[in-house]
Amino acid sequence: MSTDTTGQGDAGGVAQASNTLTITDNRTGRQYEVPIEDETIRSIDLRRIKVNDDDFGLMTYDPAFMNTASCRSSITYIDGDKGILEYRGYPIEQLAERSSYLEVAYLLIHGELPTQPQLDTWTHEVTIHTFVHENVKEFMQGFRYDAHPMGMLLASVGALSTFYPEATQIKDVDLRYQQIVRLIAKMPTLAAFAYRHNRGMPYVYPDNDLSYAGNFLSMVYKIAELKYQPDPRIEKALDVLFILHADHEQNCSTSAVRSVGSSQVDPYSSVAAGIGALYGPLHGGANEAVLRMLRRIRTTDNIPAFVEGVKKGEERLMGFGHRVYKNYDPRAKIIKRAAQDVFEVTGTNPLLDIAMELERIALEDEYFVSRKLYPNVDFYSGLIYEALGMPVEMFPVLFAIGRTSGWIAQWLEMIDDKEQKIARPRQIYTGGRERDYVPMAQRS
Ligand code: CMC
Repeated sequence: MSTDTTGQGDAGGVAQASNTLTITDNRTGRQYEVPIEDETIRSIDLRRIKVNDDDFGLMTYDPAFMNTASCRSSITYIDGDKGILEYRGYPIEQLAERSSYLEVAYLLIHGELPTQPQLDTWTHEVTIHTFVHENVKEFMQGFRYDAHPMGMLLASVGALSTFYPEATQIKDVDLRYQQIVRLIAKMPTLAAFAYRHNRGMPYVYPDNDLSYAGNFLSMVYKIAELKYQPDPRIEKALDVLFILHADHEQNCSTSAVRSVGSSQVDPYSSVAAGIGALYGPLHGGANEAVLRMLRRIRTTDNIPAFVEGVKKGEERLMGFGHRVYKNYDPRAKIIKRAAQDVFEVTGTNPLLDIAMELERIALEDEYFVSRKLYPNVDFYSGLIYEALGMPVEMFPVLFAIGRTSGWIAQWLEMIDDKEQKIARPRQIYTGGRERDYVPMAQRS
């Protein structure tokens, strides 16, 4: 709680702790002492700062939450200046190299790396829940023949709440756990069904003999063969991509999941909200925009003219810049390496040369250097996805598969956080007041 040190506009003689902020309200001359904890003050402490008793009290104005912490979280740590990303304290580089997506999902959700028996149980549970109800399949078949797979994913994840009505009991730990397993297990199935629908191909049922990534590849690419065998290098690259996208603290889609989840709705509806946020071109759609941009540039000779256009503000260099990273995005480094592995299998893509040259030129240019604009996760991920044979519409869908574990971990943390309530920002009202209704005939 804040302390009005005087109440009368004079702080004289009041001892002040060193971890506090003293605010002088020049409108009244009063001083207030506000505690600082974790380098943060609580906005609600400012509400005591009033001109008179009828005054609502001071608010903070922070469009796009540029400088507002909305929660305490022990899931993902990012140091944007140094380019550090850790899940539950483990560096992303080590997880990408040595772990698997399902192990990382366990880590994010449970907080600790699993023992071997724990991982075996977790993997088994996820694997046996990969199938979806036949009605889900029929529901998806109702979409227009060329429906965007991300829209299909959004709707079908939301629809899962109608198949599992018990999911509304979010305080029941066992029931909640069942929904978590279902979400992680069924997301690749729904994603692959959406892909097949968009291609006009029959849906392929899960193959529970395969790994998480391998099964997804099977559901996407299997044609007439009795059993689909994924190339282990492609399978590994996809698993790494899922790991890299698994969580990224309070990004737009995670905030959406938390915000919608704060109404205590079921997790399917909350995750559907996250998918909606991820659909946007400034979030999960950026890698699609990167590919379109690279195609438009066409040859490395056109790069200088393109960069000049960006500097004049005509457009953005997609896949560059980040709200948090003011250094090279650590995920982009790993993806760049993974791209080489994938291209060994699939053959190289001339767009990679354009991307690498574009990166080189941008990183030497004063415009990008002074604004600390570096490649982000999306700069190279689209190239890998394309090499895997994915159409651009599937890029955000692949992002969503990986991000599901992070959304769930964040949702769980929010549900159990005693400080959280329904999310409800304030506003500064700028409209008119107390206007009398004007009959239609009198309006000009
Ligand atoms: N190309 C050119 N200029 C840029 C870019 C860019 N990609 N990004 C930022 N800037 C400039 C911007 O014009 C501004 O310049 P000035 O100060 O002269 O007005 C300055 O850098 C700060 O930009 P901002 O828009 O205030 O930064 P932000 O934190 O609001 O935006 C961003 C972050 C990711 C939306 C933005 O960098 C962007 O639009 N990047 C391209 C889209 C993209 O790659 N998105 C994927 C993000 S990573 C995946 C994910 O987490 O979803």
